[in-house]
Amino acid sequence: MQTIYKRTIGAFILILSSCLLSFAQNAKVIEIQTKSTSLVYAVDSNGRLVFQYYGKAVESPAAFLLQKSYPKPDTNRDFSYEAYPTFGLGNVNEPALSVVHADGSMNTELAFDGVEKGETFQGVSETIIRLKDRIYALEVELHLKAFVEEDVITQHVVIRNNEPEAVRMTNFASSFLLLKSSEYYLTHFYGAWAGEMSVVEEKLENGIKVIECKKGVRTTQTENASFIVSLNHQAQENEGDCYGGTLAWSGNYRLTFQVDELKKLNIVSGVNPFLSDWHLKSGESLTTPEMIYTFSSQGKGQVSRNFHDWGRKYGMVGGTKLHDIVLNSWEGAYFTFNEATLTGMMDDAAEMGIETFVLDDGWFGNKYPRNNDDAGLGDWQTNTQKLPDGLDYLIDYAHSKGLKFGLWIEPEMVNPESELAANHPEWVVQSPGREKITWRNQWLLDLSNPKVQDFVYNVFDSLLTTHPGIEYIKWDANRHVEQAGSTWLPTSEQTHFWVDYTKGLYSVYGRIRAKYPDFVIQDCASGGGRLDYGALKYHNEFWTSDNTDPLSRIFIQYGTNLIYPPVGTASHVSTSPNHQTQRMAPLKFRFDVAMTGRLGMELQPRNIQGPDRTFAMEAIQNYKQAVRPLITNGDLFRLISPYDEGGWAAQMYVSKDETDAVLFAFSIEPHTRGIFPTVKLNGLDPAKRYQITEINTNGRSRFWGDGQTLPGDYLMNVGLELKISNQYDSAVFLLKEIN
Ligand code: DGJ
Repeated sequence: MQTIYKRTIGAFILILSSCLLSFAQNAKVIEIQTKSTSLVYAVDSNGRLVFQYYGKAVESPAAFLLQKSYPKPDTNRDFSYEAYPTFGLGNVNEPALSVVHADGSMNTELAFDGVEKGETFQGVSETIIRLKDRIYALEVELHLKAFVEEDVITQHVVIRNNEPEAVRMTNFASSFLLLKSSEYYLTHFYGAWAGEMSVVEEKLENGIKVIECKKGVRTTQTENASFIVSLNHQAQENEGDCYGGTLAWSGNYRLTFQVDELKKLNIVSGVNPFLSDWHLKSGESLTTPEMIYTFSSQGKGQVSRNFHDWGRKYGMVGGTKLHDIVLNSWEGAYFTFNEATLTGMMDDAAEMGIETFVLDDGWFGNKYPRNNDDAGLGDWQTNTQKLPDGLDYLIDYAHSKGLKFGLWIEPEMVNPESELAANHPEWVVQSPGREKITWRNQWLLDLSNPKVQDFVYNVFDSLLTTHPGIEYIKWDANRHVEQAGSTWLPTSEQTHFWVDYTKGLYSVYGRIRAKYPDFVIQDCASGGGRLDYGALKYHNEFWTSDNTDPLSRIFIQYGTNLIYPPVGTASHVSTSPNHQTQRMAPLKFRFDVAMTGRLGMELQPRNIQGPDRTFAMEAIQNYKQAVRPLITNGDLFRLISPYDEGGWAAQMYVSKDETDAVLFAFSIEPHTRGIFPTVKLNGLDPAKRYQITEINTNGRSRFWGDGQTLPGDYLMNVGLELKISNQYDSAVFLLKEIN
């Protein structure tokens, strides 16, 4: 028995190793590894790079070498999926790459041509996989970066044409992902002006679901180039396999989710190929935008925390630094102000504990004064009627009050009624022979044109050179593209406009950051119209929405923070009734909501008087002392979704060492007497004891145990019953470890 057993094992090992050996002669496994995830490709015996796996880390990726492929009976082709599927041989699904070669051939077949794997340096390792067409001199490089601690993998692609003539690319995506499950649930985002990042989740059935933008500039005002896919069931907060993806691109994008005939989910993400054929000249290359992925086997909560960790460190400027509390002048003054209005706002801001004053739209234009949105855009000279003593007077005044000074610009745009439009009509995006259409009374400048890039760069640079006291810029963009067309691009390259506009924008951002690496810049496009990691890389924060109604903001910020970090989520207290929705809400509710993000104010502070003023000043102080560090570097745990039935919302932020936390709870619908939420906390150390202190109380406690010390496991398993019940009741608690 013993001998037979040994012999069988011996024979098995022999067969296995000869199998491995013969397969290994041709085959190869390429693994990209982070702390808890693995992405695995293999080179098959035909020399194709095939997608094997992305998910929870696998210990021995060599096992993938044992995988057999099953030939399709009709074609004798196997069922494997290319890592970067082309239109050519084998792939019948949505391609990542399709090329019309110089001789008219529409087929591309990529074969593996080598791999370079870098060492892990400062937590990041890079892998470059080279592919080459089997006949044509077309080369593709997959650039993959593994961010080990954050469990994030990014990918972009470089396509190089070494053929003797130009080729035309009709698809040139950034990445392909293959998932295998019986059911797929897609969480994605939709919206409009003042209603960005609304969340919807749907089951994917056979066919293609497309998330895209075709309008340029304000690319995320409607959908957003981000998603979460949950396998087998709807995405849960703390359990289940969830994949997150987000494209770092501020131009037109397309994400396709195809459940194919084999029930596999094919995800292709990248630049939208719509009217964007790219003519790649001989000897030239094109680099696609970066696609950013994360995976968690513990639900979408961890997906968000991975994105936040990555975003703070690699996806934005100054993401781990404490930010200033800003008073922005827009809703408090709009276009109607003079020096006294602004210095008055600064007086109040300083008294209330605000740290930066930002002068929004309306400060410029003389021949065509910017007194409303009809005129002046493009003429970046201080309006001498409103501000006779110039910007420096205001800057000095701010400094004398201990405030920093910030300024609004919208340098990509021009009003027809402006000196700029008269001087440079050729800089405007336009279609030959057609009357140019305005949107918010403005046209778009053509950033594919290097002269326009210089102009836009100079708007920023001249302001800062002339007024070195400026320490914050709000960069706005209030229209999208219509009548796409460029007087700069040649006829044969008009379809390059969409990509070239975004590359032009990035070139300007890049020049600015080379000179001003740490300067604070807010990313704004009519609110959250340009929210993506392509733009965020150059910004410190984003204006989440023009809708400052706190109830709307609970939903908008819930969606936003599924993907983007709370520290970047500008979240301002505004007046009541709210200017966008006309809804009334108590000051405490407005503050409590705004404090879940990057707190600021957007109102006339003179109008906050008496007990409200005392409350506002205390809340600002609380934010600075205890909340701001947790919003900046803590972990977000969502406890109750506002989308759930029940009419509550709750979330908390926990310091990385689990010693400090802040809990926010909101009643977002009216509840009948005695109905209170029980909020189970998360992210704490079950073995630690935490003292609970309510802040922003405004004279009424919302918890029986305020001041008590409770164990972490009690707080997480039993939870707290909070006395909030009426619509717009809210509560904020600090938790501190007590030894
Ligand atoms: C749109 C922005 O989202 C607002 O905050 C404000 O800056 C206006 N533009 C100014 O025109």
